[in-house]
Amino acid sequence: MSTTVFVAGATGNLGSKIVTELVDRGATVRVLVREGKADGGDALRHLVSTGVVDVVIGDLSDDVAILAGHLEGVDVVVSAVQGGPDVIVDGQTNLLRAAEAAGVTRMIPSDFSADLHRLDYGDNLFLDMRKKADEAFAGSTVKPTFVLNGGFMEVMLAPFMGIVDLEHGTFSYWGDGEQALDFTSIPDTAAYAAAAALDESAADRTVSVAGSVLTMTQLHAEVEQATGRTLEIRELGTVDDLRAEIERRKQTATNPYEFVSLQYQWAMVTGKAKLQNLNNADYPDITPTTVAEFLATR
Ligand SMILES: NC(=O)c1ccc[n+]([C@@H]2O[C@H](COP(=O)([O-])OP(=O)(O)OC[C@H]3O[C@@H](n4cnc5c(N)ncnc54)[C@H](OP(=O)(O)O)[C@@H]3O)[C@@H](O)[C@H]2O)c1
Repeated sequence: MSTTVFVAGATGNLGSKIVTELVDRGATVRVLVREGKADGGDALRHLVSTGVVDVVIGDLSDDVAILAGHLEGVDVVVSAVQGGPDVIVDGQTNLLRAAEAAGVTRMIPSDFSADLHRLDYGDNLFLDMRKKADEAFAGSTVKPTFVLNGGFMEVMLAPFMGIVDLEHGTFSYWGDGEQALDFTSIPDTAAYAAAAALDESAADRTVSVAGSVLTMTQLHAEVEQATGRTLEIRELGTVDDLRAEIERRKQTATNPYEFVSLQYQWAMVTGKAKLQNLNNADYPDITPTTVAEFLATR
């Protein structure tokens, strides 16, 4: 009998790709979609309209008993939700309580980041929420699998991150440029998440994966090679300077996006959230895209 997986956040960027991977791997997939996206929305409409996935309408803020009803017969819960503390902490804890009530034995929470468990509270506002949600697994009958992938290539190399700036011909980074950093594409993260969901031996542990592990110096060389451009290196300061810049921005920020991308960079360039032991080899059917391959397709 195939494994039944319940996916929350299924209409999202990562979640919809996890759903497709699960279907491709022969799982029975039930998705939670919110009112207004009963047809699966843009990302999932094709799988919903063809009946490939079962749909339940709801929200992580629903009563635990209602969520537990949706989870009847489910083996594994995968959460790929995004949001504030109401979703990441309260909503995911609600979902965990519902999974316990329904007798589900495994869950992947919406972490999908650098190694948040090596960070301290205060290091990263958004990862603090995920650390808090993960604490709820202590003593639970539901065993977690924490899927960690470093930074999404699509995010780390995007202009808003401030590292690669093709318009101005610059490559900017904090730190000494020699710290190894983990990068994984979004489709590969989805593939590993689906594989881990279907892997009973992944219960109660971390699955760390990366498509490439590169220093900023190596990343600069790969971006130059892929674009055929010379990018002037801008050393922005030490990791302590970066921490000071984050604290400065926090004083005047009108929303967390004004400093959180720097907090993600700090977690990576200090090495504090470096993935420890990569589990790529546990899933040999997945050959993840490297940064060089990713750049070549852009
Ligand atoms: N490592 C990295 O570099 C990196 C970068 C980006 C994201 N991530 C992580 O990847 C994960 C997924 O992010 P994403 O970008 O794929 O998110 P996304 O595209 O914004 O999708 C979020 C999903 O959560 C659902 N959702 C939000 N609130 C909900 C609620 N109360 N009840 C039920 N569903 C709810 C949304 O439903 P609707 O469609 O109805 O809104 C949507 O399906 C997050 O943990 C995020 O932090 C990691």
